[in-house]
Order: sequence, then structure tokens, then C-alpha cells
Amino acid sequence: MPIVKLANSTQFKCLPEQTLLDAARLQGIILEHSCRVGRCGVCKAHVLSGNTVALKPEDYLDVKDQSEGLILTCCRTASTDIQLDIEDLGELGSLQIKTLPCRIDSLQLLSADVIEVTLRTPPNSRLEYLPGQYVDIIGRDGLRRSYSIANAPLDNGKITLQVRKVESGQMSRYWFEEAKANDLLRLEGPLGTFCLRNTAVAHLVFLATGTGIAPVKAMLEQLAVAPERVAGKKMHVYWGGRVESDIYWQPRFENLHVNFTPILSRADSDYSGRAGYVQQALLDDRIPLGDAIVYACGSDKMISSAREKLNAAGLPVKNFYSDAFVSSS
Ligand code: FES
Repeated sequence: MPIVKLANSTQFKCLPEQTLLDAARLQGIILEHSCRVGRCGVCKAHVLSGNTVALKPEDYLDVKDQSEGLILTCCRTASTDIQLDIEDLGELGSLQIKTLPCRIDSLQLLSADVIEVTLRTPPNSRLEYLPGQYVDIIGRDGLRRSYSIANAPLDNGKITLQVRKVESGQMSRYWFEEAKANDLLRLEGPLGTFCLRNTAVAHLVFLATGTGIAPVKAMLEQLAVAPERVAGKKMHVYWGGRVESDIYWQPRFENLHVNFTPILSRADSDYSGRAGYVQQALLDDRIPLGDAIVYACGSDKMISSAREKLNAAGLPVKNFYSDAFVSSS
């Protein structure tokens, strides 16, 4: 069975039908990932030696990426022993991915097309996660969708999700038309590797569009209970929506100061705030990107544009972390 070696000398075995990402996970080793279906690019890795075979289309990679030996670990398996240039994420490896029953605790509209869903799990099987991670909710007929957790862990174990209405979406119809308190669902998680990193920089920047604010809210709540973690650092949140009612939350914490900038793309003519794209607003504010870390969550269009523009403007490549919402189709 092929052996996969990582840059920090962690290694694991990979069966021919397993993706590298899954093989690692099943052996308690977590690699950087988000969508798990080849469409966000978060799991990109260089193959330094050995051969791999694609099990799924690597939609995110372009010809240049492929010619440089880049692969997506969520799409490929190893056909020989291989060496990759990536490291595993130690802290996340200790969190077990579980499938748990859960019930709807409450539902609350946050805006015309976003509903907050609060879920509770059985008291003896709580979900352990890091703020920024997501879960898959498994509904009727096995329908499965991914949602970021919108709160830092609570003593009562409840988690909240922010769900956007999707025209003709099967799961969306459930949430907005049929769901009620006490409905029984299942969740699988925690998933994804979007979480706060210990990087010594002066500026923490969060970029979000739409319900991409959910994991940002969870990470800020985590920092609000341990503000010493960001002592002396400046925090900035840029949140993009279409109209004013899309900005249904504000980062207000007693012990954490956050520069908050809502950005609207379809504001009324009398709106006096900022308009345009979140990534452009960040560039316009001239925050020293060489001394910053950026956490971006939202549409894949925003993520790829932000990554390109911010890296070109001096943000170190390794200081851009993202969680792209990819459609379920
Ligand atoms: S492309 Fe592999 S996790 Fe998204």
C-alpha cells in the first residue's frame, strides 16, 4: 500500500480507492481542506516525488497548476509512495469527526432570506470543534448540505447555523417552509480547517460576503473570551451584502475592539456607507498587508479575487486562509 510522506515527516498509508485527504483523516491526520470536492483549492499540494491518480475532476486547478505538479488532495490517491510539500494540522487532528443526531432547538429569521437555526445534540455526545469549522447537516432522504457554525462552543453544547434561502433549493425549502422546533436531523463534523492560526502579525483581517460572516462571528466570539490572544493587534471585519438589511449582525464585544466595515453592492442612493467589493475596500484602507493575516469566507468568486489581489499587494501567500461556499450542484 503506498505511503504518503508530508513535509514535517508525518506519514500515512493510502488505499487505491481513498483520496489522500480521506486516507489521512481516517488515520487521525488532518490536512488543510474546505469543500472536499475539488472546487476551492484549499487542499492544493505539490507532489515532490512519486505518482498520483485523480479519482475526481480537479476543477480548481488550471493548466499552469498542473504543469507545476500541483494536485488537490481531496481528489487524488497515491499510486506509488509519494512525498508532498504540505504539513498536517496537529491541533485539528485531535478533534474527532462524528455523525451525531441533533434536534432543532429554535429558528429565527435574521433577514428576509437568512434564517438562524439553533441545534442541540444529546448531552452525552457534544460536538467538539474549533470556531471557523463547518458541519454537514443530513436531512430527510439523506439530503446533505454544509453550513459553518456561527458560534464559539457554548456550555450548553448548542450550535447555530446561518442558512441562506436558495431559489428552488431542496434543503432550503425544508429550512424556510417545513422545519420546526424538535425536528430530528443528523450532523457530521467538525469539518474544514478554517480556524484561527497563531501567526505573529499586527493585523487580523476578516473578509466575508453573505452568510460567510457566520464563521467570522464564531472566531471573534472565541477571541472575545481570550482577548489576550490578540493583545496589541488590530482587528478588522469587512462584510459585504447587497442592501442594508443584509447586515444583520455587528461585532460588538466588551473586551475586543473590532473595526467593522459593512460594504453594500446594491445600496439605495441615499446610503452613505461604503459600496463595492470587500477585497477592494481592504486595499483602499491601506492596511499593511505584509504584517497581516486574512481570513476570508463567502462566495468562491470573492475568495479567488481576494487571494489574487491581496497577494499581489503584499500579503504573504501563507497568510491567506479561506472557506469558500461552493454550490451543492
Ligand atoms: S479543492 Fe480540495 S478541499 Fe476544496
